[in-house]
Amino acid sequence: MNLLILGANSDVGYATARLFAERERANVYLASRNMDLLEKKATDIAIRHQIKATPLFFDATDYDTHQLFYTNLEIKPDIVVLCFGILGNQEDAQKNVSHAREVIDTNFTGALSILEVIAEDFEKRGHGVIIGISSVAGLRGRQSNYIYGAAKGALSTYLSGLRNRLAKRGVHVVTVLPGFINTKMTDGMDLPEKLTATPDQVALDIHKAFQKKKNIIYTRWFWKWIMLIIRGIPETIFKRLSL
Ligand SMILES: NC(=O)c1ccc[n+]([C@@H]2O[C@H](COP(=O)([O-])OP(=O)(O)OC[C@H]3O[C@@H](n4cnc5c(N)ncnc54)[C@H](OP(=O)(O)O)[C@@H]3O)[C@@H](O)[C@H]2O)c1
Repeated sequence: MNLLILGANSDVGYATARLFAERERANVYLASRNMDLLEKKATDIAIRHQIKATPLFFDATDYDTHQLFYTNLEIKPDIVVLCFGILGNQEDAQKNVSHAREVIDTNFTGALSILEVIAEDFEKRGHGVIIGISSVAGLRGRQSNYIYGAAKGALSTYLSGLRNRLAKRGVHVVTVLPGFINTKMTDGMDLPEKLTATPDQVALDIHKAFQKKKNIIYTRWFWKWIMLIIRGIPETIFKRLSL
């Protein structure tokens, strides 16, 4: 089995690569921008799990390179996990459309650009699993991060459409909706301990979703119920809350 992790320097992405190497004996392509980090991670994972790990340069927002990036993969992947993303800064994004675009281009346009290339190949082969990491932030806009949330909402809708298109071709698409995760993205934030997952816990949920062919998962599981409550709050009340 060959696994491609897009945004493999993400803490969740690396934890997922390690878990699939251990449990599935998967050979892994680790694709991201910071090659120094990737090379260290690839060496570590290959030695630890006795699998093949290949570091690759990939920039989600350099759309014109995506087709060639995929064409150049010697062995095509069976599973792709899309992990890259940026949280950005909400206030900056409100004032500066170029930062807003950076958030949308990385989290959404970059995802659709590379996934369309991969989807075409998986569709032809009638085989493959695409796992996209979105966010519960995309389920309802909040003042603290609605530009990131809008990008993730678009990503979730996109993944739903992709699943609908590819299901008839034997290709499975999983949407992952994490709540808080303790990673470099949330470094320095005051997150509620009991509601915050580790990257390893998220990786375990992703692996379980892969095995059970789930369509949409919340990670950790309790976010399903938290979001049911949050989404159920009438807009007249919701707009008065400072969330
Ligand atoms: N952390 C959370 O609380 C949380 C909650 C909900 C959803 N999520 C989502 O879960 C996913 C993983 O998050 P994480 O917390 O593990 O992230 P992370 O540790 O902050 O890592 C994100 C990675 O994205 C990569 N990246 C950013 N822009 C890129 C680009 N243009 N091209 C290629 N790679 C790029 C970076 O790779 P390089 O270092 O190589 O540049 C970075 O290492 C993200 O999609 C995130 O939005 C996270």
